[in-house]
Amino acid sequence: MNYNSLNDQLNALLNTDDFLVNSAQFCAFVFDEIKELNWAGFYFYRDELLQLGSFQGKPACNPIAMGKGVCGTAAESRKSILVEDVHQFPGHIACDAASNSELVIPLIKQGKLIGIFDMDSPKLSRFTTEDKEGMEKICQSYLDKTKFLYF
Ligand code: SME
Repeated sequence: MNYNSLNDQLNALLNTDDFLVNSAQFCAFVFDEIKELNWAGFYFYRDELLQLGSFQGKPACNPIAMGKGVCGTAAESRKSILVEDVHQFPGHIACDAASNSELVIPLIKQGKLIGIFDMDSPKLSRFTTEDKEGMEKICQSYLDKTKFLYF
């Protein structure tokens, strides 16, 4: 995957600083461009919980407590988590039985936890360190472009 090209396209697509518009466009773009996904979307940190935001895929579990599942672990540690086989991750939260691998990127702006971006794949070991670094880069573009008035 050419994440530099994705980043350029994304910067053109995100032509507002509106939170809802940019979040919806971002997850639709990622889901469309990156192959072999069954879910891609946001959880935002509000009232000390991760609450479901814009996404593509099946309806998902909500809310997720800090420290729980892959999402809550990534949010709490503020570190990206790449899971080759979700069935081996202690405490993994299964929203869709089709998911086998997962990549979660924490979203931090000016030292504040905004939430996480989560991607699921039905394919085992779908995500590589190239995907992790590429997704960190494009999530940063989303954060830079977007105003978070409520966080
Ligand atoms: N699998 C995640 C839950 C969110 S869904 O995959 C959309 C987790 O373990 O945190």
